[in-house]
This record gives sequence, structure tokens and C-alpha cells, in this order.
Amino acid sequence: MELILKDISFYYRRGNVKGEEVLKGITLEFQENRCYLLTGPCGSGKTTLALLLKGLLVPTSGRIFLKSDKISFSSFQNSIGFVFQIPEEQFFKETVEEEVAFGPLMLGLKRIEERVKDGLNSVGLPYKKFRKLSPFNLSSGEQRRLAIASIIACEPSWYIFDEPTAGLDFDGRNKIIELIRKLINKKKTVIIISQELELFLDLCDELIVLEKGRLRLKTEMKTFLEKENLHEMELSLPYHIRVLRILRKRGWNIPVSITDPQQAAAIIADYIV
Ligand SMILES: Nc1ncnc2c1ncn2[C@@H]1O[C@H](COP(=O)(O)OP(=O)(O)OP(=O)(O)O)[C@@H](O)[C@H]1O
Ligand SMILES: [Mg+2]
Repeated sequence: MELILKDISFYYRRGNVKGEEVLKGITLEFQENRCYLLTGPCGSGKTTLALLLKGLLVPTSGRIFLKSDKISFSSFQNSIGFVFQIPEEQFFKETVEEEVAFGPLMLGLKRIEERVKDGLNSVGLPYKKFRKLSPFNLSSGEQRRLAIASIIACEPSWYIFDEPTAGLDFDGRNKIIELIRKLINKKKTVIIISQELELFLDLCDELIVLEKGRLRLKTEMKTFLEKENLHEMELSLPYHIRVLRILRKRGWNIPVSITDPQQAAAIIADYIV
């Protein structure tokens, strides 16, 4: 199954007034069972592109379609699990249990209690302990995981996470990354929108970069990390990779496509010895 975008452009309207084009001539494809990192500067159109994928916005021109003989395009779009940029702002139920049950109920799914239990347990919020608490009384990391549990309870095959680690502390970020890793291990298709490249390098198969509404780059993550000459893209690389690259330019015979900062530190330490 493939999700295909052909020459997509989009502008927001304010009343009858046509705004500036925020996406321009985007042609892209997403394949099942892969993990994508969608990145680019603020305002480059990442969230808008994700909303188009989910069908919450409709392209001004161009086509989005699905290559599949199993499912219609509209059911597919409905089934995508979309975790919004600050999902906890959208809570509206009185208890954690009701909040998680809401999505599956709306979709007319069965086994609601089991879904709620599994959803909460899988994000590390034990059902028994959390079910009767108010979503508004949880910590920000717990709230973010609750929002993800509400999506997991619907058991989608495709997930979009819009800035899933924004505003979380170190521990909260790690928990979210591990959660996404679990979904990838379960062969889910995942699109992560983030500017924090270093957090997701080793999770993602492909990197997509938007710049001012245009597709700047789509490449295998491995190829991206090994490229010698990234010009201004260099700045978006994680700090430890930039250090490795500088050292290699100075003649050190070391690898540069290392996703783990601690491994990078060990390589440098070994080289000095
Ligand atoms: N509802 C809206 N109405 C009008 N313009 C909008 C709307 N939402 C976004 N825009 C504009 O569209 C452009 C792309 O915004 P978008 O939110 O898609 O970017 P982004 O890459 O997700 O940014 P960020 O990294 O800040 O989340 C920006 O110029 C933004 O101001
Ligand atoms: Mg955004």
C-alpha cells in the first residue's frame, strides 16, 4: 500500500481572500511499514502537509491518492491516527478512561474496555491506577502519553505524530520515543514531524525536508547521514554528527553516520587514545 501525493499545492483562505501558497508542487510517496521523519523550519508547511494526508484539509490543486486494493481512500484517511502538536489541549472528558474510550466509540469499534486497558497500559499509564483520574490533573508527560493512548486504542496502522516531544523534559521525551519505537516494531507506518532530528535519527528510514512550502529533500536516512556535502543542510544535523564531520575533514579516519551521541563520544575518545 502506498500513499501518493502528486503536485500538491495548498493555500489557506481567510473568508473569500486567498492567502499565500503554503505548499507548492509537492510530489511524494509514503509506503507502508516505514518510518518517515518530516522536518523543516517553522512555517515550512509540515503541519499543513500532515493535515492534507489525514484529509482534514483538501489540496488546492494536485492529487492525493492511495494505491491499495484493500481499503478505500476515505476509510484509509479516517483510520490514520493523528497525534496533534499539543494534543493535551484537546482533552474534554472527565476521566482518563472516558477520554481513551471516546475515539473507539466514535469509530463504532468493539471491545472498548479492552482497548482502553491495552491503550493505557501500552503507554505506561497503568489502567487501574489512572482510569478514574482527571486528564487535567496529569503531568504534561503523562498527558501526552494519554493522548497517544487514545489513538492507540483505535488500533490504526498509520500514525502521524506532529512534534510529539515538544515541551517535554528529558524523561518525557525518552518515553515518547520508546513508545514510537514499539509501534515501529509492530510494523506500523509512522510519520514523525519534528525539528529535533537527533531524537529520531535511528528510528526513521527516510527523511523528508520541507522549505518554504517546497520539497527540499527526500532521502533514505542512511544516505543523508553519509552525504559528504550537505551545504546549508549541515546546520540541521545533530551536534555530535557535525563534530564527527569536522574531525573527518581534519583528517580523522572515523565514521560520520552515527545516530547515537554516546557512541560518537566513544569513537572520539578511542581515536584520541
Ligand atoms: N489556519 C491557518 N490559516 C492561515 N494560515 C495558516 C494557517 N495555519 C498555518 N498557516 C500558515 O501556513 C504556513 C505553514 O504553516 P504550518 O503550520 O504548516 O508550518 P509548520 O512547518 O508546521 O510550522 P511549525 O514548525 O511552526 O509547526 C505558515 O506560514 C502559517 O502561518
Ligand atoms: Mg507545525
